Amino acid sequence: MARLDVTEMFHGISFPGHLHTQESLQLALRFPFRDTDVLIVSYPKSGTTWMQEIVTLVANRGDPHLNQTVPNWTRAPWLEQYYSAAVLEASSPTKRTITTHLPHHLLGPALQGSKAKVIYVSRNPKDVVVSFYHFHKMANFLPCAGTFEEFLNKFLEGTLNFGSWFDHIKGWTSQMASMDNLLHVTYQEMSLDLHGAIRRVSSFLDCPLVEEEVNKSVQHCSFARMKNNNMVNYTLIAHEIMDHSKGSFMRNGKTGDWKNMFTEEQNQYFESVFKSKMHDCTEFVWEYI
Ligand code: A3P
Repeated sequence: MARLDVTEMFHGISFPGHLHTQESLQLALRFPFRDTDVLIVSYPKSGTTWMQEIVTLVANRGDPHLNQTVPNWTRAPWLEQYYSAAVLEASSPTKRTITTHLPHHLLGPALQGSKAKVIYVSRNPKDVVVSFYHFHKMANFLPCAGTFEEFLNKFLEGTLNFGSWFDHIKGWTSQMASMDNLLHVTYQEMSLDLHGAIRRVSSFLDCPLVEEEVNKSVQHCSFARMKNNNMVNYTLIAHEIMDHSKGSFMRNGKTGDWKNMFTEEQNQYFESVFKSKMHDCTEFVWEYI
């Protein structure tokens, strides 16, 4: 069988070659966004799938029919992945939800002048790296994770697939002041107050929900529900591509799991790199994540 874990280098960032081609990545940078589009943006493992679920529920006033019958990669395809052009062509012309992991310095120009609504999802980077590490073990289309120490170093260097977390967060959050069509929602916020986060998303999308619709949405995008929903838990993906005997996509769903993985030395090193790389970032509040 051909190797799955090939990478596609694009503008100095490696992407999984199983899902990305030079052509699909190039097309994303020239994508003609429509003002009616909703774009979910995140660095991997930040709560992307959770936000896809929320946006679908909000658009359908808490009715989970689509969530339970259509896979998330069809409801909210990843712009830069090779299959998205065909999916987007077949989707509703006025109500498209699109997902991307691209950094702002690559996608920003395509969004310029567009009124498409952008939801940026972020998560405590220590939890991101732990979640990403576990995901590498089950996702056969990603390079070998190595030890956690090696993986953490690559994360801090920005050499993992999808590039640097620091560039991603700084690029997108630096747009907060100038883009009024950009909403920043954190994983922490969704964990602490899912009801409030759904309300914030629904009002940003100009889709106000009544209390009962919010409550239904909360219920349908709980971790337990999503873990058992094969439209979002990736169990529909072939075993050779995602090996569910090695872990679950819906793994743990908690904040602060990094404390079970980081040694004291790793934490100190992380903090020092974080301080030096984020010193110029005024938009991003560490305590908030
Ligand atoms: P863990 O590996 O820490 O469990 P993404 O969708 O960006 O790839 O992020 C995946 C992470 O979000 C995984 O984190 C997954 O469990 C978590 N997640 C997905 N849905 C969730 C939910 N409803 N509640 C809490 N965490 C959720």
